[in-house]
Amino acid sequence: MMLSSTVRNLVLLTAASLACAPARVTPPAIPDRTAVTFPDTWRFPAGARAAFARNAMIASNDRLASEAGNEILRQGGNAVDAAVAVGFALVATHPEAGNLGGGGYMVIRLADGRTAALDYREMAPLAANRDMYLDAEGNVTDASVEGYLASGVPGAVAGMAAALERYGTMTLAQVMAPALRLAEQGFVVDSNLFASIRGDRRLIGRFAGASLFLPGGEPPPIGSTLRQPTLARTLRLIAAQGPEVFYRGEIADSIVAEMRRGGGIITTEDLAGYRVAWREAIRSTYRGYTLLTMPPSSSGGVTITETLNILETFPVLPEFGRAAYFHRLASAYQRAFIDRNSKLGDPDFVSVPVAELTSKEYARRLASTIEPGRSTPTSSLTSVRPEGGESMHTTHFSVVDAQGNAVATTTTINSLYGSGVYVAGAGFFMNNEMDDFAAKPGVANQFGLVQGEQNAIAPRKRMLSAMSPTIVLDPADQLLLVVGARGGPRIITGTSQVILNVIDHRMSLADAMSAPRIHHQALPDELRFEEGGLTPEAQTALRLLGYELDSNPGGIGTVIGVMRVPGGWEGFVDPRSYGGAVGN
Ligand code: DON
Repeated sequence: MMLSSTVRNLVLLTAASLACAPARVTPPAIPDRTAVTFPDTWRFPAGARAAFARNAMIASNDRLASEAGNEILRQGGNAVDAAVAVGFALVATHPEAGNLGGGGYMVIRLADGRTAALDYREMAPLAANRDMYLDAEGNVTDASVEGYLASGVPGAVAGMAAALERYGTMTLAQVMAPALRLAEQGFVVDSNLFASIRGDRRLIGRFAGASLFLPGGEPPPIGSTLRQPTLARTLRLIAAQGPEVFYRGEIADSIVAEMRRGGGIITTEDLAGYRVAWREAIRSTYRGYTLLTMPPSSSGGVTITETLNILETFPVLPEFGRAAYFHRLASAYQRAFIDRNSKLGDPDFVSVPVAELTSKEYARRLASTIEPGRSTPTSSLTSVRPEGGESMHTTHFSVVDAQGNAVATTTTINSLYGSGVYVAGAGFFMNNEMDDFAAKPGVANQFGLVQGEQNAIAPRKRMLSAMSPTIVLDPADQLLLVVGARGGPRIITGTSQVILNVIDHRMSLADAMSAPRIHHQALPDELRFEEGGLTPEAQTALRLLGYELDSNPGGIGTVIGVMRVPGGWEGFVDPRSYGGAVGN
């Protein structure tokens, strides 16, 4: 399974030949993929087939949304036009995470080599303060997770509009047409949507979304058509008037009215003051490949870069599935997450040592603390203690167009259906992103993340995220992989393991995404693995190394990916999740 020197040479030769190949005329040869075996107990088969298309590919958590993007590509739109179309379509078809009431991140790489990173993360309202989620005894309450106080000021509409304005070729009305149609004319409720609404009916039932999503106390039946006239009206307003109407017009009024009704603190001033931030994508290298990934206010790019830099110090990684491999991986994640949890925050508020954390020299120092024969307790690397558990939704989509422009976007309202608050006058759910701040530095949030002062709450500050939209170029600087995930901190471990599976373990996209994964986030100090994903021998060996193992019946992140293959593009949706990859 490991990359032999012959294969490595072949990769380099192929890469060199790619440099001279005219783009997309003769499909460039892609290095051969290696067949992989997974443990007998693992629930997903190796050798699954990804969707293939010759020119362009879109993968997202909802087939209808991917088709919306493909419709825009067929009309001549580029990858950014299509990504914005997917983003708005998800609002209608994937209400658990697709959103107007949340925010996210986008990494763009244009075919001419230009790159951009767009931060459209929510901001804390002006009336927010660092102790707003503590009770009289100083204990953390659940107000950052559920209800009117849990929301940051949404960035999604400003983000989509900004991306389109700078890099798109079409108007908002054009790219929003499929979303508008899906909201207005409706779409057929499938078993995924039904189960998702049903799973969160307690939360949804508390707020104004109940009448639409739980008529008579149950979700709309499978096979019925879900129409969302209020959302359709909102989308039509945005398509016609632009983001202004969301931040200063009629929709802003509806948000503020909803906040007043329930004691929320988002005001007209908050909405009018929301701004996206264009940032420089983090550009790093890993074994000759280039990664373009998201800088703070997301921790995703720094943590992935730091992890891969540590792993790169080992000339060859142990074979996939071996305890020695997972030991290296967990040790690298553990060290990177310690930095993530204590040193990262919104760069517009705190100083963040991105250059140091992503440097090869720093990675060498961290790697030198990894002992081959034993795990390192997190307590010997840091003194912060965890409390609390975790829950789960977020949605990632990847788009590549026929010119080779690529967009990786991850967007969220945090947990499923966000805070539960539904803006009755405008037809969408609000986020509960305030929980991504350290409500009390040193105490765990809903993902069990123990974070520090850098991520304390302040007005207009963006809460630290784990979202990791990432674009990988091959050694000849050709677009190879467009990837990202959902799953809170497991976004980082999920996304990076797919990249490692492609680069180090030579897996196909489908195998790279189906393979069992592990997770380590420093605190709690345990190595999580997916049930059935580690052989009994690997588990025993990891315990002997000193790891506390925790088997996770759910998934460790759910990844969405698009990858170049000979003759075109593959798209694949994590088998742990649902969605669709379509292309042309
Ligand atoms: O920004 C973050 O890191 C979180 N709000 C993401 C939440 C998430 O992925 C939930 N999904 N499973």
